[in-house]
Amino acid sequence: MIVAVLHGVNLNLLGRRDPQHYGTLSLQGLETQIYAWARELGMDARCHQTNHEGEFVEHIQEAQEWASAVILNPGAWTHYAYSIRDAVDYLTIPAVEVHLSDIQQRERFRRFSVLEEVAEHRVVGKGPDGYRLALEWIRSTKENDAR
Ligand code: DQA
Repeated sequence: MIVAVLHGVNLNLLGRRDPQHYGTLSLQGLETQIYAWARELGMDARCHQTNHEGEFVEHIQEAQEWASAVILNPGAWTHYAYSIRDAVDYLTIPAVEVHLSDIQQRERFRRFSVLEEVAEHRVVGKGPDGYRLALEWIRSTKENDAR
């Protein structure tokens, strides 16, 4: 099972940016961890990061063609980019929203997510572990579908 893991705006700065909220792991370190977790679960993860909203939308659209599920952390786009909401709404594969920090406990503008009604599952505030939880959720959902 192949899972697309899509990181959005400013997530290339992980490890250097606001470690209190996002930790000290770099994006490369996080992706290495995601690949290892996916392998342990018998899955195959493919990670992409971009700072360009249109490119992020294209990654979502394309994932429909080759992935069994999508994990997304759109960064600040989460809170206002309806283009991303519409792209996720188009998907027929499951989408899981992940945030390293607990967006419910931070500034008011972070409490709203455009993905609220279109993502099948959401993991917030668990740091890098959130991606492992997302992979586990996808695996158990797919197993249930197969039954
Ligand atoms: C984030 C939370 C967003 O509010 C923020 O803009 C980010 C990262 C997270 O992973 O906690 O860039 O998505």
